[in-house]
Amino acid sequence: MTEARRPASLLDLDDLSPAELLDLLARADDFTDNAQARELLRGVPVLNLFFEASTRTYTSFVLAQQRVGADIVTLPPGASSLGKGETIADTALTLAAMNIRVIVTRHPASGFPYRLAEAFAGHVINAGDGRHAHPTQALLDLMTLRREFGQIAGLRVAVVGDILHSRVARSNILGLRMLGAQVTLVGPPTLLPESMAVSGVRIVRSLEAVLPEVDALMLLRIQRERITSAVLPALADYARNYRIDARRLALLPAHAIVMHPGPYNRGVELTDDVFSSKSWRYAQQVAYGVAARMAVLDHLVNGKGQRA
Ligand code: NCD
Repeated sequence: MTEARRPASLLDLDDLSPAELLDLLARADDFTDNAQARELLRGVPVLNLFFEASTRTYTSFVLAQQRVGADIVTLPPGASSLGKGETIADTALTLAAMNIRVIVTRHPASGFPYRLAEAFAGHVINAGDGRHAHPTQALLDLMTLRREFGQIAGLRVAVVGDILHSRVARSNILGLRMLGAQVTLVGPPTLLPESMAVSGVRIVRSLEAVLPEVDALMLLRIQRERITSAVLPALADYARNYRIDARRLALLPAHAIVMHPGPYNRGVELTDDVFSSKSWRYAQQVAYGVAARMAVLDHLVNGKGQRA
C-alpha cells in the first residue's frame, strides 16, 4: 500500500524506499551510539492510542518520544470515544483540531492504521495492526542484524513458527527482502500455509535442515489469542518439531544469532537453554527499539533527508 499520503505515515515498511529504510537504520545507529537526548520534536504533540496490550512497544515509543522532546499524550486502552461509536474520521478530526501531529496506534484489526491515516491530517505510526504489520519491530530487528553483521544483503535469515498470525513476520519479510536477505520460513502447514511463499521467500518444513545454514533465526510467539482451535496444533507436537533447545542450538553455525520479538512462551518456542546461549540477542533487540522509534519520529516529522 504505497499510495501517496499527506503527510507521511509509517504503516508498513513498504511506505519506505530501500534508500529511506537504510537512512532510518543509519539514524537509529547514530541515536544508539550517541545516547544524549535530542530536541528533534520539541513541543510536537504526539498521541499514543493503543487498543491492544503492549509492554515493549508502548514503553519503547514513550521513551523515544521523551528523548526527542515531544509533548506526549497517552489515551489509556478503552478510554477513547471510538468505543462510544464515534467514527475513526470524526475522532481524527477532533485530534487534529487539538493540534496532535503524530498518532502512534496499535489495534487488533488489520488495517485500522490505514483508515486512520486516510482521515487524520497528521502522521500515523503503526505500532501493530492485527496480524498485518509491525514496521517498527521490523526496523529494530533489521537494526540488530545490521549491527551484528555489517549489512543485510546476502544474510540467510530463517523465520520460525507461527508466521500465519504474525505481523512481526510480515513486516520483517518485507524489510529483509527490500535489503536483499535470503529469507526462509519454517513451520508446520497449519501455521505456515504454502500460500505464504511470496517471491524470493522459500518455505521449509524441517527446522533441522535449516539450522546449519543460517546466519540468524527469528523465533515467533505462538499467538494463541489469534488462533482458532481448528488450526491450533498440539503444542507438544509443535515443541517437538520446532522448539529451540540445547540440541538444536548446537546445530547452528558458531556465528549465528537467535532473535525473538517477545513476549516469548518459555517451553513452547524455546527452552531456557536459549537464554544462556551466546547467540541470544533479545536484550539488544529491545534496547535498539528506542533509537529505531526516535529515527521514525524524526524521519516523519522533520523530513526524509538522506544522509550523504
Ligand atoms: C509482538 C506484537 O505485539 O506484535 N510483540 C512486540 O511488539 N514486540 C509479537 C507478539 O505479540 O507475539
